[in-house]
Amino acid sequence: MMGKRILLIVGGGIAAYKSLDLVRRLRERGFSVRVVLTEAGSQFVTPLSLASLSGQEVHQELFSLTAEARMGHIELSRDADLVVIAPATADLLAKAAHGHANDLASTLLLATDKRVLAAPSMNLRMWLHPATQRNVATLRGDGMLFVGPGDGAMACGEYGPGRMAEPLEIVAAVEAALAGDTTIPLPFAKPGPLAGLRVIVTSGPTHEPIDPVRYIANRSSGKQGHAIAQAAAAAGASVVLVSGPVTVPDPAGVNTIHVETARQMLEAVEASLPADIFIGAAAVADWRVGAALAEKLKKGASGPPTLGLVENPDILATVASHAQRPRLVVGFAAETEKVIDHAQAKLARKKCDLIVANDVSPATGVMGGDANTVHLVSKSGVETWPTLPKAEVAQRLVAQLAARMGEGGA
Ligand SMILES: Cc1cc2nc3c(=O)[nH]c(=O)nc-3n(C[C@H](O)[C@H](O)[C@H](O)COP(=O)(O)O)c2cc1C
Repeated sequence: MMGKRILLIVGGGIAAYKSLDLVRRLRERGFSVRVVLTEAGSQFVTPLSLASLSGQEVHQELFSLTAEARMGHIELSRDADLVVIAPATADLLAKAAHGHANDLASTLLLATDKRVLAAPSMNLRMWLHPATQRNVATLRGDGMLFVGPGDGAMACGEYGPGRMAEPLEIVAAVEAALAGDTTIPLPFAKPGPLAGLRVIVTSGPTHEPIDPVRYIANRSSGKQGHAIAQAAAAAGASVVLVSGPVTVPDPAGVNTIHVETARQMLEAVEASLPADIFIGAAAVADWRVGAALAEKLKKGASGPPTLGLVENPDILATVASHAQRPRLVVGFAAETEKVIDHAQAKLARKKCDLIVANDVSPATGVMGGDANTVHLVSKSGVETWPTLPKAEVAQRLVAQLAARMGEGGA
């Protein structure tokens, strides 16, 4: 269960104090926990406690612009492997049963494509009320999972059912839920060809610092990689885009992580594993300045400085040989000569499944432009596509990858 992501919704119940312990128990077992706190929940526990224990920012508001810019509510609801509500108040269950979406928690519950595990917690009269029991029956029918409530002494002084399951019982239920299918098929929509799959895409250039104001860069715009991330999301995948410095906007429906250097890019990619497909479309700098300076280099009598370059980590090769290697690893080869020969060599050397090769000589206008002419190089041969808009290259590539996944691998 290492590395699985839990989105924990903490509702406004007296048992919210137990959710602090739940976060600890989950993290001890290697889960990453992102917390959403309802307004009522914040009357019982503080966002500070939850942020400290989860190690992540706590989300509280639907209409929070900064949070929306970094991660909108749709991504938030889908980025997790499982959504857990603890405590699940009578109110949250009622809202979920009726499809309300008037705050962050209820909106996430309506928008998510993941299983939801609820740990109800309320006074026994509230729990036994026909309204609550009707809502629970409705939610079970919709596929919501439940743990507890148990019988016991309540904070309100009464005794009976309604007591929230203990944190370790909830952890066991989380592990059981994750062992099953954690994505809810939409009954009314045809799932996209990448539905249920996790895709990591890298895009853009990297910037390698020379000193605080200067850096080594390249002409990659990020247009192709961003288009691929968008196309994969449109095909139903849950997409993480790790982007170097670009001016193109973050694609909608994609969790975008911004980085600058090759080493940061590798770190973000590894932190985003496991995934089913990796597409390395970024133009990662091969070299960086070995000893980037803390102060700005000065023009001096000693003449121009020598930049001692050292090799950057090879992100594609690292992912292709990783213990958590995605089933499909796709690299890009930007070449200015012998495009196909170099791509074939790269395919073998880096142990990836597919190379998308393109000629980036200045005359082609590919770098920064809106069109691309690519060759798909795999063990089974070379396929050359006509010059196409980058968005169409992305869609065709995603369709190819979906077909390969369907065939059971590369
Ligand atoms: C002291 C106190 C304790 C409460 N405990 C619970 C509880 O254990 N379970 C519950 O369902 N509601 C409880 N409530 C009521 C909820 O806080 C209230 O319904 C709130 O609107 C729930 O909001 P939420 O579902 O958005 O978190 C309690 C209210 C107060 C004032």
